[in-house]
Amino acid sequence: MIEIKFVLNNKPCALNVEANERLLDVLRNRLGLMGTKEGCGEGECGACTVIIDGKTVNSCLVLAPQVDGCQITTIEGVGNRQSPHPVQKAFVQVGAVQCGFCTPGMVLSAKNLLDKNPQPNDKEIGVAMSGNLCRCTGYDKILRAVKLAAEEGKG
Ligand code: FES
Ligand code: FES
Repeated sequence: MIEIKFVLNNKPCALNVEANERLLDVLRNRLGLMGTKEGCGEGECGACTVIIDGKTVNSCLVLAPQVDGCQITTIEGVGNRQSPHPVQKAFVQVGAVQCGFCTPGMVLSAKNLLDKNPQPNDKEIGVAMSGNLCRCTGYDKILRAVKLAAEEGKG
């Protein structure tokens, strides 16, 4: 076992992990953070997206020892029912959530984009969201939600 320490959703966290344990499994199975989803398990769908040191990452492709010393944000650190993040509000407002399986990853990708670039153009939004697949919505409402969150941010 390897001891790792990291900051998870602004709280310090330390635990012992196997050398070959995936971050996705640590989050879901050991820490109970079920908002991070497993879709493909091979880096294609973005359902397992988390933010590590300011970058969106597929947690199914990250080994737990790699996050020693890192800052990690999962969907649980972004907002909640009582106090949703502006991106989450926008997703609800435009109806960008259907089954919801892709939504945590989508929200994290959108949040990370807007944190760095509060007024992105359509192309920048498309690039930022290109690693997140959705089988339900046809993407139009998701892109509208990201634009709406950016608009709301202006005010
Ligand atoms: S589950 Fe990680 S990219 Fe699909
Ligand atoms: S809302 Fe179902 S996969 Fe996106």
